[in-house]
Amino acid sequence: MKLSHLGFNLQRAVANRGVVGTLTAVPGKVMGRLSRGSKPPKEFNPVHPFDAEFGTDTSGLLAAEELRDGRRRNSIYNTGYYATAPSMFQQAFAQLDIEFEKFTFVDLGAGKGRILLLASNLPFQQVLGVEFVPELHAAATQNISIYQPPYRQCQDVQCILSDVRDFVFPSAPLVIFMWHPFVGPVFEQVMVNLEDSLRREPREVYLVYLKPEFEHLVKSNTSLRKLWESHFTMTEQDFAAYIFPDQSETCAAYGT
Ligand SMILES: C[S@@+](CC[C@H](N)C(=O)[O-])C[C@H]1O[C@@H](n2cnc3c(N)ncnc32)[C@H](O)[C@@H]1O
Repeated sequence: MKLSHLGFNLQRAVANRGVVGTLTAVPGKVMGRLSRGSKPPKEFNPVHPFDAEFGTDTSGLLAAEELRDGRRRNSIYNTGYYATAPSMFQQAFAQLDIEFEKFTFVDLGAGKGRILLLASNLPFQQVLGVEFVPELHAAATQNISIYQPPYRQCQDVQCILSDVRDFVFPSAPLVIFMWHPFVGPVFEQVMVNLEDSLRREPREVYLVYLKPEFEHLVKSNTSLRKLWESHFTMTEQDFAAYIFPDQSETCAAYGT
């Protein structure tokens, strides 16, 4: 895969469409980048040691324009696939002061499921992922069956093949995770769906949002209030296997 796929040739797009046309036509490509984009990505696409240890396949970068749903349609509002560094997940969930036993975990935009595997190490009632790319969903399902460390605490783990906009939030108390997976109208619709679900069935819900670029849509569409915002730095081991140049990222948590 060419790393040039990761970025977006903004200059050419602006030349073709003008600034406004570019911003309205390709929001996913303009805003939906997984790294801050100030520096070029590293010149390699490494396998993460997590996969080497557990025999899973969660590594690799797929650019937004390569992702297709079951009807082979691309969504301009997705940000591409890359898995969260385990140490980022661990720091975020260490800071979330809750009893995991009471909650269902949901990863919106689950990709190949690395986060589902990490969440299954915690004593959640259930771990769910939602993913709209059939190939990524298949990889997640395979990874869930492969990943069986003795310390895995939740056995009820599954990835659902669906667009997040069609996902019906379970009526249980929820911990929702997102790593900047989608932007604009998709993000807005998901927040509206979440708020509708909370209005119908008020309950304890937490949202952990890594790289919270669309925080304004969380605030304007939901009754969730901000609990904390932190800047996490991944371990050297994670960073050595990370394709993007940013070793640190902002993470925010919200709750009902
Ligand atoms: C940055 S990856 C994150 C993967 C995983 N959550 C993690 O943190 O390791 C974002 C994922 O969201 C998925 N995604 C984007 N838009 C989506 C949508 N509308 N419905 C379902 N999944 C979507 C992408 O296919 C991609 O796998």
